[in-house]
Amino acid sequence: MKITMIGAGYVGLVSGACFSDFGHSVVCVDKDPGKIEALEAGRMPIFEPGLDALVAKNVAAGRLSFTTELADAVRDAGAIFIAVGTPSRRGDGHADLTYVYEAAREIAGALTGDTVIVTKSTVPVGTGDRVEEIIRELRPELRVEVVSNPEFLREGAAIGDFKRPDRIVVGSESEWARDVMREIYRPLYLNQAPMVFTSRRSSELIKYAANAFLATKITFINEIADLCEAVGAEVQDVSRGIGLDNRIGAKFLHAGPGYGGSCFPKDTVALLKTAEDYATPLRIVEATVQVNDSRKRAMGRRILQAMGGDVRGRTVGLLGLTFKPNTDDMRDAPSLAIIRSLQDAGVSIKAYDPEGMEVARPLIGDVELVGDAYEAARDVDALAIVTEWDAFRALDLTRIAASMRTPLLVDLRNIYSPSEVERVGLCYVPVGSPS
Ligand code: UDX
Repeated sequence: MKITMIGAGYVGLVSGACFSDFGHSVVCVDKDPGKIEALEAGRMPIFEPGLDALVAKNVAAGRLSFTTELADAVRDAGAIFIAVGTPSRRGDGHADLTYVYEAAREIAGALTGDTVIVTKSTVPVGTGDRVEEIIRELRPELRVEVVSNPEFLREGAAIGDFKRPDRIVVGSESEWARDVMREIYRPLYLNQAPMVFTSRRSSELIKYAANAFLATKITFINEIADLCEAVGAEVQDVSRGIGLDNRIGAKFLHAGPGYGGSCFPKDTVALLKTAEDYATPLRIVEATVQVNDSRKRAMGRRILQAMGGDVRGRTVGLLGLTFKPNTDDMRDAPSLAIIRSLQDAGVSIKAYDPEGMEVARPLIGDVELVGDAYEAARDVDALAIVTEWDAFRALDLTRIAASMRTPLLVDLRNIYSPSEVERVGLCYVPVGSPS
């Protein structure tokens, strides 16, 4: 099938590359000529493991191409996906749908026949209705249906998540559109990936409810981690002990510095806005958002406390800046709040991140960016692990301890055990256990 993907951002690019890998013919459209030029030259606009090879393979096979010309790309398409950004609207936190509606109008102008239009962008309940209205008003002679098909991929694991999804959600109002979606996802469907067919509004809500639930799960274990510290329990044992209950599940129970990224922070707030609009408060999600915000700020204080009060003129090394490993994404990263509170206290900062330093640089003031983890540890009064990159999991702790001015390791991701750290003479402050 010929598929047109509007938007070559994270979701659009990964989905487009994966659909082409299934054998579909995919054109990715983006307004940014720089991005399209880079993609045509084989350079990826984002860091995502495996994406460059997947794109190169399918471009070479003639199944994947890039363009800035929406009208050409839309002609004769079997399905048109809208995968443009829905950032937080400045000032009120509602999802900003400007790009979605703009894409809808442009698609309407270029359609050449009956077409299924699929929103893959994360959009509030009712957006599909509005997109359909826009297109029908402009092209009343055509048969058009707007389908909701949210994407659940995680950054850093995007290709695996897309190709082996826990489920595919399709919100549609007609059998015609459902058949088109079955054909598009046929390879996954044959591979036993469950397809959930539902109404468009339910599908739109599924995406927000899933993200809000996961954000709440993380926030729950983070608060339990605080309680563990107070009562003398170990959060990792508590996570394992509760996660083995199938009704709870082990995933997303790692205590840490709070969730960040491009989805959880923005989607939880946008869901609260929808709830407000419909006068149906979601108090649990409200608490999640508040607790997570204050947790990110508290992580800086935790490092300062571990250093014992008077910290002016001292230096802290940070390992990891991105909101999670295997990405260069800095959006709402806990490191940003940590850096702010350390700088407010008059502490100098050195930092190292395997992929995120270029993106981080303009966001973090006069933090000194260094070339590896050992440089970040040299002559500092505390070293804090902020993001759990694999490269930080097997550091030479003896070397680190010897090079620090004060041997203190604050592990905000619990990737070491107290015994191995303390053995080399480092004082260890993990998350969620009495230190
Ligand atoms: C998330 C959803 O997982 C995905 O389904 C959706 O499509 C987009 O949003 P992503 O933001 O890429 O994906 O990353 P994810 O791996 O979910 O992590 C989000 C944040 O939660 C990160 O800051 C991570 O460090 C944090 N996290 C995750 C924890 O603190 N503990 C955990 O146990 C899991």
